[in-house]
Amino acid sequence: MKIESFAYKNGNLEWQGASIRQLAAEFGTPLYVYSEAAILDRIARLRSAFDSRKAGVYYSVKANSNLSVLRIISGSGCGADIVSGGELFRCLKAGLTPDKIVFSGVGKSADEIRYAITTGILFLSVESRAELEAISKIAQELGKTARISVRVNPDVDPKTHPYISTGLKENKFGISHKEVVSIYKLAASLPGIEPTGLGFHIGSQITELSAFKEAGQIAVKLVNEVRAAGVQLHHLDVGGGLGIRYAEEQAPAPEEYVKQIIDSVGLPELELMFDPGRSIVGNAGILIARMLYLKGAEHADKSVEKANDSRTESGKTFFICDAGMNDLIRPSLYEAYHHVLSDPERPLSGFGDLVGPVCESGDFFAKDRSLPAFQAGDLVVLASAGAYGFTMASNYNSRPRPAEVLIRSNGQAEVIRKREIFEDLIRGE
Ligand SMILES: Cc1ncc(COP(=O)(O)O)c(C=O)c1O
Repeated sequence: MKIESFAYKNGNLEWQGASIRQLAAEFGTPLYVYSEAAILDRIARLRSAFDSRKAGVYYSVKANSNLSVLRIISGSGCGADIVSGGELFRCLKAGLTPDKIVFSGVGKSADEIRYAITTGILFLSVESRAELEAISKIAQELGKTARISVRVNPDVDPKTHPYISTGLKENKFGISHKEVVSIYKLAASLPGIEPTGLGFHIGSQITELSAFKEAGQIAVKLVNEVRAAGVQLHHLDVGGGLGIRYAEEQAPAPEEYVKQIIDSVGLPELELMFDPGRSIVGNAGILIARMLYLKGAEHADKSVEKANDSRTESGKTFFICDAGMNDLIRPSLYEAYHHVLSDPERPLSGFGDLVGPVCESGDFFAKDRSLPAFQAGDLVVLASAGAYGFTMASNYNSRPRPAEVLIRSNGQAEVIRKREIFEDLIRGE
């Protein structure tokens, strides 16, 4: 399979023009590496399809919240979609202005609501009647008005992994489309509340544009009903969720996705808000690890067919590297696929599991897969690790989290988060 932005030069791997070997030698492993040029390119491609439409990108911070990444986002004029007080803090530190920040999530605490209202963010996305009432109460206490947008649960199947579908009625997110009009009527009557938009987000890693179209059409119908009830709206937030190419899947081009939504929604007087996370940073990042040991190596160099034939009698190979599920949890959590490359280049004749050192059988990056015929000491590159990689990393097994490095558009690599040390593990205890 050919993966974008990787190339072997004289047997050594380069990504985005940078030598994997040099990055590992200079910054150590496990190591997250991101590309500024790749991030900016994805943003530009989304925006190129806006044409003259009133629309904006509100990057979903949860995908990758490193301050330097947020500064790139902010510098390019995008806004941010946040889900916690901590993300609001990060955005402000990175220079995002409050009028470009929107706050989603089903469980905002009173402190978080207070922080958002006093900061003066663009709006809080309301996910329940109880939350709307809490926002009204807090806004009154503060003597302020909170702008809100209602997140609709359109009950649309995004055909993605069940853990990352969010717009089905069995998911905890959003307010049933059946209750939306009554919620706006309540919002319009509550003190301290100014309804300003309506939104949805149906899930993540969506590769079928038809789901967005369906949700968009439901949203348009609701906007019209809300308007007929006398409530004026200025924004329509269409969420994020655009999938990327991890394996063989065909992810829609960003331009095609934006165009599909613009065409299915209409309503040119509303600002269309896109909150992509994964599709901006997912393929703009990789995780580099080092191969420590091969266990059961006598089984490693087999074709897939032969290995399948003989696996039960003869066991299989575990390729054990120095990154673990605490560094990148997506394979363990969602059985997510990450393409695996080696440095130096090796034939694709290895077969087995790529695992980490964490004391869990769920600590794997690839299971029963054809892999490069790694040798101990080789570098292992996990592709497409820029989204939901470091942000989901933990200190499980008291493992310090990896460093993060950014390759600037001029080719310079710089540390944007130091590798943690043991002292970091016990800070605050
Ligand atoms: C409200 C909202 N917007 C945007 C996103 C970003 O999704 P993605 O990274 O798939 O684009 C999420 C992710 O869960 C979300 O909950």
